[in-house]
Amino acid sequence: MRVLLILLFSRSGSYDPTHKSKKNCRLILYSIIESTKTTTMKKLMFILIAGSVIAACGGGNSHTKIDASPAESNNTTTANGNPSYDPNRGEGKFKDVQINAKLDAVMAKEGEKVYNVKCGSCHKLSDERLVGPGWKDVTKRNEAAWILNFITNTDAMLNVDPKAQAQLEICLVRMPNQSLTDQEAFSLYEFMRKNDGIK
Ligand code: HEC
Repeated sequence: MRVLLILLFSRSGSYDPTHKSKKNCRLILYSIIESTKTTTMKKLMFILIAGSVIAACGGGNSHTKIDASPAESNNTTTANGNPSYDPNRGEGKFKDVQINAKLDAVMAKEGEKVYNVKCGSCHKLSDERLVGPGWKDVTKRNEAAWILNFITNTDAMLNVDPKAQAQLEICLVRMPNQSLTDQEAFSLYEFMRKNDGIK
């Protein structure tokens, strides 16, 4: 328990660029640990006090996140906390994606197969929402890199991307990571373009 709390605590401190306030808090925490070594009552007290110290110390930073609460991670908006975040590109390995003006029909066909297996249960091809948003005009709403990053790095994007989070608020279901290969991601993108009328 002691180790866990220290761990939790140092995690919650890792977002502070100055480390100053966290150091103080950590000192308080250590002294509490030292002064409570024996009975269950004392342990309980310790947990309570440590909890409030963590809460108090974390309060200054709205993006502080303790992993024990999954509900909280659903509504963090770290996009604001990270000035270098590019909401058009999203977060992930795709950066400057070159897309041919002309559709790659073979890839689009491949993408359709992946869609039928992995995406069709939640996404319609019209503008109608099923579990997730309908795919009509999805390639017009979003840059290629954003889509490729979103579908290959879904969980991370849902944590930081304002557009993805807005969709999440409407859909109420968190899109699961789909473990796509890059090839599958590109072919799905071609299929989306075909669905949006690119020839
Ligand atoms: C379990 C349901 C589910 C499955 C399966 C699923 N998605 Fe999603 N998808 C969602 C939800 C819900 C959202 C809206 C964001 C959120 O709430 O997570 C979304 C959002 C998206 C978006 C952004 C749409 C927009 O309009 O901006 C894209 C692109 C996308 N999904 C692609 C895919 C692809 C590609 C697959 C298959 C490999 C897939 N999804 C499988 C539920 C799903």
